[in-house]
Amino acid sequence: QSSAALLKWAQAASRGFAAAAASGPGRKVAVLGAAGGIGQPLSMLMKMNAQVSQLSLYDIAGTPGVAADVSHINTKAQAKGYDKDGLAEALRGCDLVIIPAGVPRKPGMTRDDLFKINAGIVRDLVEAVGKHCPGALLNVISNPVNSTVPIAVEQLKRMGVYDKRKIMGVTTLDVVRAKTFYAEKNGVDVASVDVPVVGGHAGVTILPLFSQATPKVTMPQDVLEALTKRTQDGGTEVVQAKAGKGSATLSMAYAAALFADSCLRGLNGTPAVECTYVESTITDAPYFASKVKLSTEGVDKVFDLGTLSDYEKEGLKAMMPELLASIEKGVQFIKSG
Ligand code: NAI
Repeated sequence: QSSAALLKWAQAASRGFAAAAASGPGRKVAVLGAAGGIGQPLSMLMKMNAQVSQLSLYDIAGTPGVAADVSHINTKAQAKGYDKDGLAEALRGCDLVIIPAGVPRKPGMTRDDLFKINAGIVRDLVEAVGKHCPGALLNVISNPVNSTVPIAVEQLKRMGVYDKRKIMGVTTLDVVRAKTFYAEKNGVDVASVDVPVVGGHAGVTILPLFSQATPKVTMPQDVLEALTKRTQDGGTEVVQAKAGKGSATLSMAYAAALFADSCLRGLNGTPAVECTYVESTITDAPYFASKVKLSTEGVDKVFDLGTLSDYEKEGLKAMMPELLASIEKGVQFIKSG
């Protein structure tokens, strides 16, 4: 559903948005880390989104160039660049803040290896969000997502402005990958494919539910296991192929733009269903990615997991120690800081 929506606005954008009517009021969106590998293409895609009227592009370096470049695209969103001194203005009045700021992996690194640097970056940016646009939806991309989302939540709780409907870890790339790999392997039209991906966003915590995939294809166990592993290791596949020059940026920007589009649709009164990593009670983990309904206030409903195959039940059990440890690490970073 959301792929079709994205295609529709991409087609509208290619016609110069002459006829593209945004549903609902124009929204103010900020990208924090806008000059980075993800930030740049994501800024471009958000400039192409007809639901956006103001686009704040914030980074600690390089935003004048990115903003000048993006601002020449002939769509209605007004794009403005902000540097260190402009964070408050970038955020004031925002409906949606997307955070891809921080360092990416190099070959041999896990997402958790990024914690030391990215934890502080996310904490400080979220503190500014809590101060300047506490009601905004927050899409956290910076890794390790399994820890940075609890960091964001604890920071907002500390400031007394936490609303659990507003904070989401972006796991859409796992869904995008699972759909692509499933379609390729089974020779089905990728546009018609849906695959829920649940759990977290690192290694074994990424659990694609191929038993619930549509259109339904029954795969031999070895093929199913290989697809599951490829989805879990999709990020590492890109890190290795880029050989030291970063991690997924283009597919990530696409995934983040899809997710942000669904968030904006929800705000504008057309609910959307997406998988995302949120505060959750559907398993033993206090944060968990699953399908949620995005509505006018953000996360309206967290759906349970549905029926799992025995293989998926094992996967769910196997991820828990790592997921719980990553969550606790994030919580403690703020509580003991
Ligand atoms: P990058 O290094 O190309 O860009 C990061 C940008 O953040 C840079 O422009 C940098 O100046 C900026 N930055 C650093 N500190 C900042 C601060 N305090 N305030 C504002 N901006 C700041 O990295 P890339 O490839 O764009 O990745 C960004 C993050 O996204 C990484 O943590 C990476 O692991 C994560 N990621 C998440 C994925 C997901 O599925 N959630 C997938 C791929 C990457």
